[in-house]
Amino acid sequence: MAEVGIDGIEIRTGKLKLDLAETFAPAQGDDPEKFTKGLGLYTSSFPDVYEDIVTMAANASHRLLDRKDLSLEDIGRIDVATESAFDKSKPVSTYVAGCLEQVFEDDLHHANKGERKFACVAGTQALDDAYNWIRAGRNQGRKALVIATDTALYERDDPGESTQGAGAVAMLIDENPDLVAFSDAQGYGSADETDFLKPNQQFPSVDGKRSMQVYLARMREAMEDFERNGGDTHPDNFALIPFHTPFPGMVRRAAALGFRHCIRGTEVEEEVADEIGHQPREESFDSHDEFLEAQKEYTETLTETEMYSQWYAQTIEPTLAISRYVGNWYTGSVHIARAAGLQEALEEGRDLTGRQLLVGSYGSGAQAEIHAETIQPGWEDELGQLNIDEQIENRRDISFDEYEQIHDVHNHAESIEMDPLTTPEGEFVFDGWGRMGERK
Ligand code: CAA
Repeated sequence: MAEVGIDGIEIRTGKLKLDLAETFAPAQGDDPEKFTKGLGLYTSSFPDVYEDIVTMAANASHRLLDRKDLSLEDIGRIDVATESAFDKSKPVSTYVAGCLEQVFEDDLHHANKGERKFACVAGTQALDDAYNWIRAGRNQGRKALVIATDTALYERDDPGESTQGAGAVAMLIDENPDLVAFSDAQGYGSADETDFLKPNQQFPSVDGKRSMQVYLARMREAMEDFERNGGDTHPDNFALIPFHTPFPGMVRRAAALGFRHCIRGTEVEEEVADEIGHQPREESFDSHDEFLEAQKEYTETLTETEMYSQWYAQTIEPTLAISRYVGNWYTGSVHIARAAGLQEALEEGRDLTGRQLLVGSYGSGAQAEIHAETIQPGWEDELGQLNIDEQIENRRDISFDEYEQIHDVHNHAESIEMDPLTTPEGEFVFDGWGRMGERK
């Protein structure tokens, strides 16, 4: 059976930029380094008044289909993953399909459409669904369009406010893919958690510190499950390791714990042991708390070794290159991490064809998924077509007053009128509920 995976990808950022160090920090009375050094974020993306999850998704999808020279007839399935849905019945994919039908002057009546929800991991779950649909032979030769789209906004003055972002990632899933092929091995870590939730509310209720602990716990479980299912996690196996990135500081923590876990019992652990000693083993301690303290100290020392620094610089750091400038995109976050890592590798001229990615997806509530992907021969051409750096560069830098207004507008405060800050050019715009997705 042919390989199945991601054949093409397009990324669409919101057109506005909030500078965390220059604009947000002074207005909040915070030290800018809390964001740039502590969280690892410099700027975040926001949607202008005519952008929302549908327009960003439709604009990304349109460019993807156009670039791949596809017609709507070629698409048999559209799944949208989002935690920002505005409709409890009609899936966001139907709105996106409506936009595409307008511009292609054709219909998608034959396509199976749906919406996937499990916080940020839903984008990866939608990829899994598309993979299974194709592997089962139900696609009848057609391809699947998977779109992860979110406006990741928090209540004003919530600690999460500095990690906001907005954007969409459209991915084409097909046989003999140009970008990456999925493998069958997967691992899950899942538990009923209440650290981050949005029950019938516009903004999430978040216990931020706890959410970080839950992320790490579920990711560790998923890693163990992946190994039980035959996945090999030796750190040298992977060219890049894209993680779900709510902010780069979170990935810094996950990477340290992941590396400690993956070197256990390998020759890498022996090499590291010559420098900093062996990993603490629970049986050597009188109490679990003492063991945890020793493990924490070992991890900190481990991150200071040359071996760790080199591994981090090669496999993790490149995946954060986009996230630092756009913030959290929830369902799209791990997919921009994959794209960023490959884009950086392309710029550095790394030869990655046939190498593996280890992808760590996570959604609050909570579930982590680990899976491996193999980089395909067409990856350089495919990545070379992305224009996300240009989009990031062209965003309109907003003042704090404008930020406050735009936040209110996207809070569905319908009485608030605001003129657009940018001009749409040949793209879908949100122009009121009756005229969703009109193209300007
Ligand atoms: N200079 C340098 N560093 C500084 C600093 C300064 N002046 N001031 C603070 N820092 C550091 C802190 O030491 C801290 O780093 P460490 O965690 O490494 O110690 C970092 O900056 C952040 O500082 P605080 O912890 O004080 O920040 P905070 O109280 O504002 O909260 C947060 C941070 C909990 C992540 C908050 O932004 C939040 O709630 N975010 C939303 C929830 C979230 O993203 N959770 C992540 C896991 S859940 C998930 O991944 C799903 C999802 O997408 C939401």
